[in-house]
Amino acid sequence: MIVTFILNGQPVSKDLDPSRRLIDVLREDFLLTGAKEGCGEGECGSCTILMDGLPVHACMVLAGQLDGHRLLTIEGLSASGELDILQQAFIENNAVHCGFCTPGMIMSAKGLLLQNPDPTEEEIRTAISGNICRCSDYRQIVMAVKDAAARLRAQGGAR
Ligand code: FES
Repeated sequence: MIVTFILNGQPVSKDLDPSRRLIDVLREDFLLTGAKEGCGEGECGSCTILMDGLPVHACMVLAGQLDGHRLLTIEGLSASGELDILQQAFIENNAVHCGFCTPGMIMSAKGLLLQNPDPTEEEIRTAISGNICRCSDYRQIVMAVKDAAARLRAQGGAR
């Protein structure tokens, strides 16, 4: 079926098997390998992207569900060639450890900051509660999201 959607700001119209998983479409058809497959069951969050500004697990979305939607992957955050403030804050706060969970973690945080520019620590922890990190206790990740939120507020908000 022909599926039409917006991917990282670009209109896409593509013939796709509607039963294919979005994670496979992104990685195999568009070579967007930032979203990682961990569990493949909607539990680990490593495949998180934004769909219409809200975090979704790309392993749980099918190609047939994409029509008319707006997708943002980790690659789309730096499409201009510059790192997003969240990406920069993760680096500067040493919030990247092995890196496997990082793209999904950042996309969940992006979804949060689009809705809530001044989240509390509890709200940040809730927003990333679906993203499992096996390396850390999440403290630096929370600090990075708080830092990015403050920088974005100083710039007039997340986009
Ligand atoms: Fe999608 Fe784990 S791979 S949630």
